[in-house]
Amino acid sequence: MTVIQPGIVGDRIQSNRVHGSLYTDPALFQAELEHIWRKTWVYVGHESEIPNLNDFVMKSIGPQPVLMVRGRDGVVRVLQNRCPHRGNQVCVQEQGNAAIFVCSYHSWTFANTGDLIGFAFPEGYRDHGDAEKKELGLGRVPRVEAYRGFVFASFGTDGPTLAEHLGGAAETLDRVCLASPEGEIEVTAGFLKHKARSNWKFIVENECDGYHPAFVHSSIFGVADSGIGGLYGNQSTALTRDYGNGHTEVDLRPEFRKTGVPLQWFGTTAERLPAYVASMEAAYGNERAREIMIDGTPHVMIYPNLFIAEIQLFVIQPLAVDLTVQHVTALQFKGAPDLNRRMRQQTMGSVGPAGLLLADDCEMYERTQRGVAARDPEWLFLGRGEQREYRDADGFRVGHATDETPSRGIWRHYAGLMEAV
Ligand code: FES
Ligand code: FE
Repeated sequence: MTVIQPGIVGDRIQSNRVHGSLYTDPALFQAELEHIWRKTWVYVGHESEIPNLNDFVMKSIGPQPVLMVRGRDGVVRVLQNRCPHRGNQVCVQEQGNAAIFVCSYHSWTFANTGDLIGFAFPEGYRDHGDAEKKELGLGRVPRVEAYRGFVFASFGTDGPTLAEHLGGAAETLDRVCLASPEGEIEVTAGFLKHKARSNWKFIVENECDGYHPAFVHSSIFGVADSGIGGLYGNQSTALTRDYGNGHTEVDLRPEFRKTGVPLQWFGTTAERLPAYVASMEAAYGNERAREIMIDGTPHVMIYPNLFIAEIQLFVIQPLAVDLTVQHVTALQFKGAPDLNRRMRQQTMGSVGPAGLLLADDCEMYERTQRGVAARDPEWLFLGRGEQREYRDADGFRVGHATDETPSRGIWRHYAGLMEAV
């Protein structure tokens, strides 16, 4: 058994097994905040959530609240939602439009660039607080970059660029956008939030765990008379892929290409969405549109917190070592109103408050968290498919749909992040 690296995680991560304490150790959770959430690129939100000048939306980077703001200059900034006076949360509204933010505690006023621009009763400060105005302001997350409208931010002032961080997984975001006749997605359907008493890493790993759906989701597949279960069966030709940097995918395209039926990925047919099909053909030409509609959108986990599940976008937010919130919305595709309506309906049915899909996963997250509290056997085995894993033409590790190639990739990346100085 190969020990990956010594240090904070010690020998708790090995090539095909991880120690249960990685999900329960409060000290390790604090270290993760520093090594991962306050250092690397984290998905914050989508540009379509703040389309107009002065729009803002409340978001988070790990447990920390932030504001994603489009300034008067059109620039998207990510500000820390904390007053430099006494630490009060400056904005409590989930989203809106505001050129300034006024702290509710003592009324300090900030431009939406983060600059402090005014005090109540300025006579109480030397020179009416001119020096303070220059020095104090809302904290700005130093690096903010977008790819295809997906906004990422990093508290780290240096390190890999967003393009380097996304690496080969950037192509999966291209694939999401391709399903829109205008080449753009929109995040406009509103978010549902699901709290799970579970460590965030169980959730990240589960997103591209193709081993569980046939069992955990058998009831919804049965009720919905859905063919999705077969995609994750033993005979499936679907693949798992490790893009490096913790990004992983279950690539279902081989299964959809086998049957070659457009919109099978969405559980519908071209006849049911004539307007969408016509716009796609007008945008891409008949042949390319057909290919895109056969392939569908990806099932990809962009480390550490953005999960695109074909028709939904999830954001994973750790709150404590054993508490995580999943924020989820229906993907919306620019120029595709009929598809979007069905996206919202299917999202309510699968991951809404009475949805039949996410409830199953959440139950597994919580049972697993309770399970690892028992320390014997201490290790979790992640060796499924190790013997049949291979590298594709791009050098990415690939496994069968049900293999644990994604989990092994996630832990390899995690070990590197946690051991970095
Ligand atoms: Fe914000 Fe005092 S805490 S003005
Ligand atoms: Fe699941």
